[in-house]
Amino acid sequence: MKDLATVLTGANVSVFIALGLDPKQAEVRRSDRPDLGEFQCNGALAVAKAAGKKPQEIAQQAAALWSDAELADKPTIAGPGFLNFTTTLGALTARAQDVANDARAGASLVEHKRRVVVDYGGPNVAKGMHVGHLRASIIGESVKRIYRFRGDEVWGDAHFGDWGFQMGLVITALEDELGGFGDKAKIEARLKTLTLDQLEAIYPAYAAKVKDDAVLRDRARKATAALQGGSALHREIWKAMHDVSMAAQKRDFHALGVNFDLWLGESDADPLIPDMVKDLESKGLLEEDQGARILRVANPGETKKKKLDDGRVVEVESPDPLLVVSSEGSAMYGTTDLATIVQRVRDQRPDLILYVVDQRQADHFEQVYRAAAKAGYAKRDILEHVGFGTMNGADGKPFKTRAGGVLKLQDLIGQAKEKARARLREADIGTDFSSQEFEDIAHRVAIAAIKFADLTNFRGTSYVFDLDRFMSFEGKTGPYLLYQAVRIKSILRRADAEGVAAGPISIEHDAERALTLALDGFDAALRAAYDKKAPHFLAEHAYGLAQAFSGFYANCPILPSEGAVRASRLSLAAATLKQLSLTLDLLGIELPERM
Ligand code: ARG
Repeated sequence: MKDLATVLTGANVSVFIALGLDPKQAEVRRSDRPDLGEFQCNGALAVAKAAGKKPQEIAQQAAALWSDAELADKPTIAGPGFLNFTTTLGALTARAQDVANDARAGASLVEHKRRVVVDYGGPNVAKGMHVGHLRASIIGESVKRIYRFRGDEVWGDAHFGDWGFQMGLVITALEDELGGFGDKAKIEARLKTLTLDQLEAIYPAYAAKVKDDAVLRDRARKATAALQGGSALHREIWKAMHDVSMAAQKRDFHALGVNFDLWLGESDADPLIPDMVKDLESKGLLEEDQGARILRVANPGETKKKKLDDGRVVEVESPDPLLVVSSEGSAMYGTTDLATIVQRVRDQRPDLILYVVDQRQADHFEQVYRAAAKAGYAKRDILEHVGFGTMNGADGKPFKTRAGGVLKLQDLIGQAKEKARARLREADIGTDFSSQEFEDIAHRVAIAAIKFADLTNFRGTSYVFDLDRFMSFEGKTGPYLLYQAVRIKSILRRADAEGVAAGPISIEHDAERALTLALDGFDAALRAAYDKKAPHFLAEHAYGLAQAFSGFYANCPILPSEGAVRASRLSLAAATLKQLSLTLDLLGIELPERM
């Protein structure tokens, strides 16, 4: 089942071929001038030069050759040679019926299924999840769902940050707290009482300390090396910290409606590192550099300017080399990422690995991907960084709490829920339900508000955190969409209770035309979101669809109408609900039963 734009394109390709024009320019898409036509093709302008004719002339010839009268009337010509198409009532009605009958609400599947790993979330052990991990989790979850829905085999992997320097740092902090690691019983007793709150307090304190304390830094590095080198004591402490953090993070992910197929982390790639380093060595890829071992990834001539401490500016290779083994013998962030590629290629045999990670890590991934390609672990083109901008405060800088700290994810969700409750009470929504149901609705509204506000922006764009705006029941917001969807649910429920059945669709009113065109747009939005790894196309679709439904509902009463008209309108409403729920689900947004 194809959407109208695809079918129109097919017919227009025949016209272009008949005229000896490049069929690639025959593409028909939704018009950005709906007053002139529903669909448009700008190809006449693109091919004019090669054909040695005026675009107008080509457009006229193309319009004259249009013969698919069942699909659309002969196109009209606007401006310098745009072709504008308006579909026939028959084609539109058939399309509406197709969407209504289809369990996938008109969404196509990929032609060639791929195996895809989506690496997202990425919280760090010993640090609670904070707003920085919010976008990674929200966008990654949506991308994963979009890929799976289109038919790929997909694994979402949390890739916990659990093997780096921060582990050595927190272990060192604990050593100081206990006055050394001499007393085994004392260590064990302490580990039993360890909480995430404590870890979260220890980590930033020591991260700040280590900045200008070379001795401490050295100790933390040595502790990291000891952990990675297999010291049983370090491993035991690590395990306690890991488990405490993981439990809290699972709780946060659950609250956010984010779920992974693989709950793996950096540490899981560790067993592969010794052989990998040997392999890199035998391939002659490693170089000695001040006691560390590095892998150069810049091609000859690839340089960037770098400012030295003394103010001089020099040309250095770019990207920087990948640091594979530190001078203490530890694995670095890039090392575990490289080994994780080896691991994933072995375990999932992926055709594509997507890394949904902050745009600011672009250089890191470029290094890792090039290293993987050089070593023959994975082709460069199966590795892709899906970067995103930051969530900012009103000052335009990455969001901080009023006290200047990072906002914990749990606290953010708490604030959002608080606001959701207030808004629901103001609007008198759900207040007559049991307190448990009211809480459940408030939770869903809160998460919908946060997620939709994020996903409505192109991922590369940064946006300003504004809970008041996100939580409004009007405008382009999550709560508005939930409300619209739940309203359709309640109409369908009432119809059911009154014994009113849905029936064949017949389109009469302009608002029904508009709603059908909105429904028809789902597949294009889905394909764009898939190809560009950009859920905002679907967020946009959800909003457009909800608005089209509003217009339809205002003009075409459902239950007060009668007979075949009522049955048709009911079918349109049901199709809208099905598609809107699917779209929201792809964004990771859950609907309540009623509101
Ligand atoms: N833990 C990292 C961070 O907090 C993100 C991990 C991203 N994924 C990866 N494969 N490096 O910055």
